[in-house]
Amino acid sequence: MFKRFTTLVVCCAILSTPAVWAQSAEERAQAVADTRQGLLKVVVSYFGPIVAMAREQIPYDGDVVKNNAEKIAALLPMIPDVFRNDTSSYELDTEALPDIWQNMDDFTDKTNNATQAAQALAAATAEGQGAAMQAFGALGGACKACHDNYRQQD
Ligand code: HEC
Repeated sequence: MFKRFTTLVVCCAILSTPAVWAQSAEERAQAVADTRQGLLKVVVSYFGPIVAMAREQIPYDGDVVKNNAEKIAALLPMIPDVFRNDTSSYELDTEALPDIWQNMDDFTDKTNNATQAAQALAAATAEGQGAAMQAFGALGGACKACHDNYRQQD
């Protein structure tokens, strides 16, 4: 009796979760796109303060740069995971270009390059502001290298 009750509770808990169930294929695809955009929004929330330091809008703080670079290095490897589902056959609110799913190996290589650039930035903070800002330029270049190929330009 108790076991059956538990099964019922688990079942209803799953059914009441908004994601995945009772959605059209298009809605599910948009949820996938929202997730990957969400990841990149988190990435840029760590990236943005370093941009502001590079533009001298806020003072340089090596500890913040190191922390943020480490967080970016931890987040970027999630990119190939959240892009695994090919959503290119749907009409979505997305800037992801269909080429991603024709070139997953290259897309993953570009992710790895950016991750290594983020790790190099974290390490460069030990050498001071000049080295850190140079390494930050390289990280920005690694983001752009992927965007140039796989993100729709405005
Ligand atoms: C391997 C490829 C790749 C790398 C590396 C990458 N991006 Fe992106 N990024 C994309 C793609 C593709 C999109 C479009 C996603 C979509 O709209 O579904 C995107 C979207 C974004 C967005 C828009 C998110 C939104 O609001 O919808 C921001 C901001 C962003 N990237 C910042 C960065 C930064 C900063 C880095 C480097 C630290 C970076 N990206 C590295 C591929 C990449």
